[in-house]
Amino acid sequence: MTDFIHEPVLLEEALSALQPTAGRLYVDGTVGGGGHAEAILEASGPGGRLVGFDRDDRAIAAAAKRLARFGDRVTLHRESFSGLAKRLAKVGCDGVLLDLGVSSPQLDEPGRGFSFQAEGPLDMRMDRRQPVTAEQLVNELESDELATIFWELGGERRSRRIARAIVEQRGMQRLETTTQLADTVERTCPRRGARTHPATGVFQALRMAVNDELGQARAGLDAAWSVLKPGGRLAVITFHSGEDRLVKQFSRGLAKPYTVRGEVDVPELRVPRVPLARELNRRAIKPGAAELERNPRSRSAQLRALEKL
Ligand SMILES: C[S@@+](CC[C@H](N)C(=O)[O-])C[C@H]1O[C@@H](n2cnc3c(N)ncnc32)[C@H](O)[C@@H]1O
Repeated sequence: MTDFIHEPVLLEEALSALQPTAGRLYVDGTVGGGGHAEAILEASGPGGRLVGFDRDDRAIAAAAKRLARFGDRVTLHRESFSGLAKRLAKVGCDGVLLDLGVSSPQLDEPGRGFSFQAEGPLDMRMDRRQPVTAEQLVNELESDELATIFWELGGERRSRRIARAIVEQRGMQRLETTTQLADTVERTCPRRGARTHPATGVFQALRMAVNDELGQARAGLDAAWSVLKPGGRLAVITFHSGEDRLVKQFSRGLAKPYTVRGEVDVPELRVPRVPLARELNRRAIKPGAAELERNPRSRSAQLRALEKL
């Protein structure tokens, strides 16, 4: 088993949004290998505390090792970040970081089945206690359901064609490995000199469906907001346009100086109110040239941050 090494993305930018301060309490909802968490603990010493969450047992083990030197300033939970609402309801906290998506070790370990670049079981579960795997979705969903997942979560324009090819292939033999799936997609949509592998969108979409990533992101934003103290800050890093849209709508909704009576936001139906949040940046922050050069996996990262008023 390889070491759990993940280069934290937009680290300086996340710290500058959260402004970790001595003696305060922070939550890292996606602790991963502990890179962001370590920087938050360093910046909030002495006495700053951090509660970390991750659904992945290997991430929790790696973070526990990396953060051991901070002793009882750190508490880690192997559970979904939506659990932070319950765990912090009584105490509240001063800052929450959500760094959504997968970590490099998850992608790089063939046995986890996240990547088409190495042969592995079609698994893709972040939390290996959960029953649903990618293999189940690929072999058991109807063609239409698969196509919807590929289109909505992977932006795959050839979603229907790919879904039909999968159904045809699994009629002959159950699809059990990443390479069987990648080959099925590639036979249907040959690469023809394209830079990205034709199965890129399909793999991303399946991963997001297996782990219910959009549903989790929604629940995580609500949970984080519910425990933040006034003046506390929420920073969210996304790697997917659908997730960024969700975060943007969430922050815009809280920062508006009005609510809307009804479904449509038209001036006649607006009811003035004091904004509940301040967006720290109007536009999402993206990695600079130096970070992109150092860590090409940061290329789709976007950070949004807001302060509770
Ligand atoms: C991009 S990595 C985070 C890396 C981390 N910031 C670091 O510095 O190493 C995302 C992590 O979030 C975890 N994760 C994704 N969705 C989650 C959820 N709903 N609840 C808890 N952890 C989640 C994944 O298992 C993964 O370890």
